[in-house]
Amino acid sequence: MNRFTNKTVLITGGNSGIGLATAQQFSREGALVIITGRDAARLEEAKQQLGGTAITLLSDAADSSSARALGAALRTRDITLDAVFINAGIAKFSPLDDVDDAFWDHTFNTNVKGAYFTIQAIAPLLNSGAAVILNGSINAHIGMPNSSVYAASKAALISFAKTLSAELIVRGVRVNVISPGPVATPIYGKLGMAEALLNEVAAGIQAQIPLKRFGTADEIASAVLYLSSPEAAFIVGTELIIDGGMSQL
Ligand SMILES: NC(=O)c1ccc[n+]([C@@H]2O[C@H](COP(=O)([O-])OP(=O)(O)OC[C@H]3O[C@@H](n4cnc5c(N)ncnc54)[C@H](OP(=O)(O)O)[C@@H]3O)[C@@H](O)[C@H]2O)c1
Repeated sequence: MNRFTNKTVLITGGNSGIGLATAQQFSREGALVIITGRDAARLEEAKQQLGGTAITLLSDAADSSSARALGAALRTRDITLDAVFINAGIAKFSPLDDVDDAFWDHTFNTNVKGAYFTIQAIAPLLNSGAAVILNGSINAHIGMPNSSVYAASKAALISFAKTLSAELIVRGVRVNVISPGPVATPIYGKLGMAEALLNEVAAGIQAQIPLKRFGTADEIASAVLYLSSPEAAFIVGTELIIDGGMSQL
């Protein structure tokens, strides 16, 4: 399929995991892909994996001035956007007792404030018919211990899909949110757990998934492309849960 020929797509956190898989699928389907991340070397590596054609932009989602600079950098290049995947995010887990201001701010600045101000910065660049997809999580729906801050940050994104849809629909822009269940990506290696404990936790999570496996980044990317495509033209302000049944059965 070539659903995105002559289309321009922005993916935040596009150098790894779900973001990179999404960038690869969009690129294969003809889109000009722009990816953001915080590390120039990792962005360059991703660019090579995308065949060298992607535009890479350094941007720290946790910093609203960086989000505004991203909007300015796109404007300078006269870029307008047909799809945006607000994907950059972190997953940090902690029991209630151990959460402090720094932990809270790190998650909310990255996952919530970053998403919000990135959308604000790029909103003027969205073409009529554009799609914005937020990357949520089923953690917003399930009572997983130690996930309170992360889950609340993702619940905010589900709310944004509705409220920002209401504001942007007048310009023909659709906003939706995907909520993945557990997906095999580098994010788990960033939890700060020793490998043996990580394997134990992963086995425990896998046992809770009715399909008895983690999802793949490509399975999530396919949903993002669908929601960005004309096939999803009547889908507005909704949430697509992609979790092997974990939050549903
Ligand atoms: N994997 C799962 O099981 C799962 C489930 C549900 C939802 N999600 C969501 O999916 C999204 C992507 O996660 P992933 O699993 O693909 O993990 P990943 O491989 O760790 O990718 C995370 C991406 O976000 C970027 N990022 C993090 N903090 C950033 C910041 N302050 N500014 C700019 N970019 C930043 C990272 O870039 P750097 O290289 O600069 O750090 C990286 O490109 C996250 O929002 C996560 O919450 C994941």
